[in-house]
Amino acid sequence: MESVPMSIIIGIEGKKVELRIFASYPIGNLTTGGFWANGNAVGVLTSVPGFIPAINATSIHMDDTFVRYPGAPYIQDTRGLVMTDDGQIIGVNMQGLVSATPHVHDIMANKTGVEPLRWGEMDTFTVWNFQAAAGKYSQLAEGTFVANTRLIPSDNEDTVVYMDYQISQVDAGPLCVDS
Ligand SMILES: *[C@@H]1O[C@H](CO)[C@@H](O)[C@H](O)[C@H]1NC(C)=O
Ligand SMILES: *[C@@H]1O[C@H](CO)[C@@H](O)[C@H](O)[C@H]1NC(C)=O
Ligand SMILES: *[C@@H]1O[C@H](CO)[C@@H](O)[C@H](O)[C@H]1NC(C)=O
Repeated sequence: MESVPMSIIIGIEGKKVELRIFASYPIGNLTTGGFWANGNAVGVLTSVPGFIPAINATSIHMDDTFVRYPGAPYIQDTRGLVMTDDGQIIGVNMQGLVSATPHVHDIMANKTGVEPLRWGEMDTFTVWNFQAAAGKYSQLAEGTFVANTRLIPSDNEDTVVYMDYQISQVDAGPLCVDS
């Protein structure tokens, strides 16, 4: 499998980061181990110039569950809906890992003076799938996408953290065949 760079970006409109987790609901430690929490987020899904179809969509809702087992990365599981500027509703599913580095912890704890993550600093990635009806956006439903993630600290009391994703479509390489 090879990754085709730069297909879709969620979270950036112009230079403004927009996937904003605005509420966090800690579930706590389960007896099976693992700390669970759920967040609510708002955001935008926009395509880079040249991606067809051009996408300009805004979240209807985004539901963001995190689980963390001691000594392991966060496991992220997100589902939501976005609506395009021409009125189509697209389902968004995302699962993957978020590194649990000291830098990430400092951002999540909203320590003062902490810089945003740099692109590529986090060596984990997330996998994305979309539901889109037959029509203009249907190719989204036929692809698998991966994303690198960046966290940006909160700058207001209504924001837990900003999460920024650069999403790329994965293309199948040559098939494995019996020789
Ligand atoms: C959950 O468990 C971890 C590890 O045992 C502990 O450090 C943490 O304080 C616990 N959190 C809560 C909210 O009880
Ligand atoms: C994206 O859609 C919003 C309305 O949903 C609109 O305000 C904005 O100008 C659009 N952006 C682009 C680049 O078309
Ligand atoms: C996080 O810290 C910044 C200042 O560094 C502050 O403006 C913001 O309100 C804080 N966020 C929350 C959720 O308290």
